[in-house]
Amino acid sequence: MPIKFNKEKRVIHLYNKEISYLIHITPDNGLIHLYFGSYLKDYDLYSMAYNTSNYYSHLVNGVEEKALIENFNSDTSSMEFPCFGTGDYRPCAIKIKNHFGDETTDFRYVSHKVFKGKEKLEGLPCLYGEKDDFTTLQIKMIDSVTNVEAILEYCLATNYPVITRSVKIINKSKNDITIKKLYSACLDFKTDEYEFYRLTGRYAKERNIKHNKVMQGVQSISSLEGKSSHNASPFAALTSIGATEDYGDVYSVNFVYSGNFEIKVEVNQCLQTRLLVGINPETFEYVLEENQSFQSPEVVIQYTNKGLGEMSRIYHKLFNNHLIKGVWKNKKRPLLLNSWEGCYMNFDTEKIINFIKEASELGVEMVVLDDGWFGKRDTDESSLGDWFVNKDKIDLHKVINELHKRNMKFGLWFEPEMICPKSKLYEEHPDYAIASKNRNATLMRHQMILNMARQDVCDNIFDQLSKMLDEYQIDYIKWDHNRAITEAYCEKLGYKHMGEFYHRFILGTYSVFERLNEKYPHVLIESCCAGGGRYDAGILYYSPQVWTSDETDPIERLSIQEGTSFAYPCSSMGAHVSANPRTSYETKGHIAMQGTFGYELNPTLLTIKDKEVMKKQVEEYHKYYDLTHHGDLYRLIKNADNCNKVAWMFVSSDKKEALFTYVVPLRGYSELCYIKLKGLDPDKYYYCEQLNKTYLGKFLMEFGLNLTFKWILTNQSIQLYFKEKN
Ligand code: DGJ
Repeated sequence: MPIKFNKEKRVIHLYNKEISYLIHITPDNGLIHLYFGSYLKDYDLYSMAYNTSNYYSHLVNGVEEKALIENFNSDTSSMEFPCFGTGDYRPCAIKIKNHFGDETTDFRYVSHKVFKGKEKLEGLPCLYGEKDDFTTLQIKMIDSVTNVEAILEYCLATNYPVITRSVKIINKSKNDITIKKLYSACLDFKTDEYEFYRLTGRYAKERNIKHNKVMQGVQSISSLEGKSSHNASPFAALTSIGATEDYGDVYSVNFVYSGNFEIKVEVNQCLQTRLLVGINPETFEYVLEENQSFQSPEVVIQYTNKGLGEMSRIYHKLFNNHLIKGVWKNKKRPLLLNSWEGCYMNFDTEKIINFIKEASELGVEMVVLDDGWFGKRDTDESSLGDWFVNKDKIDLHKVINELHKRNMKFGLWFEPEMICPKSKLYEEHPDYAIASKNRNATLMRHQMILNMARQDVCDNIFDQLSKMLDEYQIDYIKWDHNRAITEAYCEKLGYKHMGEFYHRFILGTYSVFERLNEKYPHVLIESCCAGGGRYDAGILYYSPQVWTSDETDPIERLSIQEGTSFAYPCSSMGAHVSANPRTSYETKGHIAMQGTFGYELNPTLLTIKDKEVMKKQVEEYHKYYDLTHHGDLYRLIKNADNCNKVAWMFVSSDKKEALFTYVVPLRGYSELCYIKLKGLDPDKYYYCEQLNKTYLGKFLMEFGLNLTFKWILTNQSIQLYFKEKN
């Protein structure tokens, strides 16, 4: 098995053909991180474990000489599971308060076991696979004073340079303990020669790529909103300095969690770098009674020395095959038209039927009715929580029949975790809404959040959605989430367990997703959060598509989609052509085809010319589907590089086809333009339909594509399809 234990050196080596991860168990059962990187056939333990920084030395088990002899210094050694209060002054991965009120925590190695496959994490999203896809290592550790166990889990992927990590804490003592902090993974690096990449933004500007050199001190990204947030995504990478799309070391972490998270990078006094990933300790505290346990969410850790482009391609494949699950995994998704920007909440049956007629002529395969069909909702002031059809406004049976007559599918919008004070649900169950005792509740968009930490609330929502899915033939759900949590409080948890609220909230949400996935496996869920405010690896487990952003201006979308493609598959990236006037429908189509592709407009207002463009687009969508959904993405010129040119391409895994897209964000600007393509077979000849020319793959990659004379000023973008010529 690819996890070997060298008893003499006390080294555990996790490896596959691309990576090695080495852990050393010290004589006094500390767990030292030795190495993570390219595969190593052999290694020198002394070089890896020895650190000369004993000047900074602190005590290990109270005996300084011992530390020197064993080269183990908790403040400067690389640690697998750094604890609080025993001489490691960097941010720790775990802190537990015991019944004496003592927060010192000192976990030591007890034993480990290795088995084939990967177990499911109870109640949490995680990577999955067949027995041969993963090998699992579980290391049992104990804090002997409190008798609390920690099981560190490492799952090594067989065919990817990837290891997942998570931790389970089991209280084997007779007394309560409080987990004050628990990161799912810690990665220690020997130097500060790294750049810290992350995805940050705001509403309608999600996931822009940012990076800087790490420096002494702490830098972090996090969320406190109860969701992963627009502000930052639970993903980060440390790269070698100057890493590019094609070159350089990349160590990245992708947290499989949709709630409050933190990714923290610290460079200490010895200029060593520590990376921690986990639930945000600021809104987390978890009490375990005797024999109770707590499972942390999973972090996917990835390494490549081939740059950021390769990092993304690894995530795309990994998530498409081992995270996204169910019927819709790798299955062709229907081309949809969403009603939101086309009519907002101003619709009736006739209007939607007209949408359907027009959409079907364009070749649209599914119409999604967005917000406004339920309770009594013509504005955003009411009815969230009342998931029954407003029959005075819309006849859903008629709408669905109209779709079925045309062999089309039907999708419907919900915002399951929300409640409006103006709703039947609130009248009946005001206590379902999250609110502090004796404080005014903050409203956002006239709504409050349901207390998903409560089982009865989750059951109510599941039952309401279930009723709708049983009565109407719904093929797709758009699951929205339009506000952040405030006044977090749950009376049922009581004083003792209140710190568990945020985590229990997201577990409750996950449980409703899971029940829907199980009971209605054919229903495709596209998750949404005021655009892309909850786009993370956790949500992808339940919903294979995510609405990327409420920003549908394609030029603004360039940076959003580019950043999203950094960490998540393009096949998950909701991207629609809207009526936004800034660009042509051709350009809108070229950019939307980087993601799931669909329309978000009023099809009854289109001109004949627009419709012709769209019909062609729909054909192209089908023709390029496999490439854009399963091909390898190469970001050729990044929007983040700010040079008024953006280019990317998809290449099929057999390298027989490629789709190249080039966009000039600001018009009226032309220059010589040569772009080197990537990922092709150097020895294959490729015919480009649009240019009616054949090129050698190596020529396209070494000299490049000369677009200087092909560039027509009136176009803002160009899309070129290449096919192997025999
Ligand atoms: C926010 C979403 O991002 C939009 O696409 C739309 O569904 C609205 N909510 C509806 O209220």
